[in-house]
Amino acid sequence: MRPQPPIITAPKTYRVKSYGCQMNVYDGERMSEVLAARGIVPAGEGEDADLVVLNTCHIREKAAEKTYSDIGRLAAAGREKGRSPLIAVAGCVAQAEGEEIMARAPAVSIVVGPQAYHRLPEMLDKAAKGERATDTDMPAIAKFDALPERRKRSPSAFLTVQEGCDKFCTYCVVPYTRGAEISRPFSHLVAEAGKLVEQGAKEITLLGQNVNAWAGEDEKGRAAGLGGLIRRLAAIDGLERIRYTTSHPNDMADDLIAAHGEVDKLMPYLHLPVQAGSDRVLKAMNRQHTAESYLKIIEKFRAVRPDIAISGDFIVGFPGESEAEFAETLSIVDEVRYAQCFSFKYSPRPGTPAATLEGQIAPEAMAERLHRLQTRLAEHQHAFNRASEGKACTILIDRKGRNPGQWLGKSPWLQSVWIDAPAAIGDMVSVTLAEAGPNSLRGVPA
Ligand code: SAH
Ligand code: SF4
Ligand code: F3S
Repeated sequence: MRPQPPIITAPKTYRVKSYGCQMNVYDGERMSEVLAARGIVPAGEGEDADLVVLNTCHIREKAAEKTYSDIGRLAAAGREKGRSPLIAVAGCVAQAEGEEIMARAPAVSIVVGPQAYHRLPEMLDKAAKGERATDTDMPAIAKFDALPERRKRSPSAFLTVQEGCDKFCTYCVVPYTRGAEISRPFSHLVAEAGKLVEQGAKEITLLGQNVNAWAGEDEKGRAAGLGGLIRRLAAIDGLERIRYTTSHPNDMADDLIAAHGEVDKLMPYLHLPVQAGSDRVLKAMNRQHTAESYLKIIEKFRAVRPDIAISGDFIVGFPGESEAEFAETLSIVDEVRYAQCFSFKYSPRPGTPAATLEGQIAPEAMAERLHRLQTRLAEHQHAFNRASEGKACTILIDRKGRNPGQWLGKSPWLQSVWIDAPAAIGDMVSVTLAEAGPNSLRGVPA
């Protein structure tokens, strides 16, 4: 093995690189706040950071592999410069493969799981002494209580309300990397949301692996579900928009559906993954719902909010999936007419029951099915966008457009809308939607 250059043990600057889901983005922000509280500042653009936190994702093989290629790249750059950044691996790969990372990658000093990152300061103390530190505990005391106050300034913010998963879909690593389902207390969430709004958030997206499993007690001690929490958050002055993701069909309460008909700030958008259209495949996935029970839920949402945009996740090529079963996935796509979706080739994950099932599908067949599915999903997305032409709505500006003078924002239905008019990030602009493309629309300011 090539010699290891000296590692920076007293970092002054940091960079957090988050992969995977929105919860990892949220965790990345919270880790930044932990580091900032210790006086470590973000590295400037294009500048090497003294401390690099790789906030990793284990969901599919490709995602997990990025961890090792990133470590390799950082280690090589370190050798070239004669001093290596302090590398911390966080997130779901850290949880799943912490020991392996420490064994394989001497350039890594810290391995910290998704439930332990509030202990980063102690781990940095160890690193300062030149020691390596691993923490992949899932402590009973929630990390949230130990984290510093929110400092994130952004018009659109994430807020984790629920974490973990007890569902054990047979293909999925999340129950192992994130642990059991927990709900954060109502009062803490109201307080954190208030802080985010104080710092400029106009939109808050509530996050959870099964966000609609959130349960708690409201200020009067009454049992509340996600619908109740949303109603309370809607009372926060200055908060304009509320979203939530990801929901599970089996945790869908009528009160949450009803909230879509009553709470103006709750956006007309629902991300409700179904994964597959065949009941046999759904059973083998241990989804514990059928295509029909899923469709019933969608129907209920459309009854209270006819314009609701539906989005979902799909897996093609689950072990044993026949051509006829795949065709049932295409059918459910046509039935729901999704506004937007994420779709993936099945990736066998170590330690999950599906990885050892008979009938693993050949990669070429999976690629071909994914292509057919994505073509169909794109048609529906374009149709949804076309049906929006002529609608008046507000967009929340979140970035500059490609051409000078252009700005991009999100419609209530989470479509990307661009305008050719003066604006700034965080502005709420009234527009009429015009000219729908497959992935975006033009907005004409009112
Ligand atoms: N808790 C959410 C999201 C979990 S991960 C839910 O239940 O819907 C996000 C998506 O990744 C899943 O919805 C699924 O479509 C996909 N996914 C999970 N494991 C996978 C695997 N082994 N191979 C391919 N896709 C997978
Ligand atoms: Fe994974 Fe299923 Fe849990 Fe979603 S519900 S996180 S897909 S095990
Ligand atoms: Fe990935 Fe972990 Fe999220 S595996 S999708 S980062 S919960």
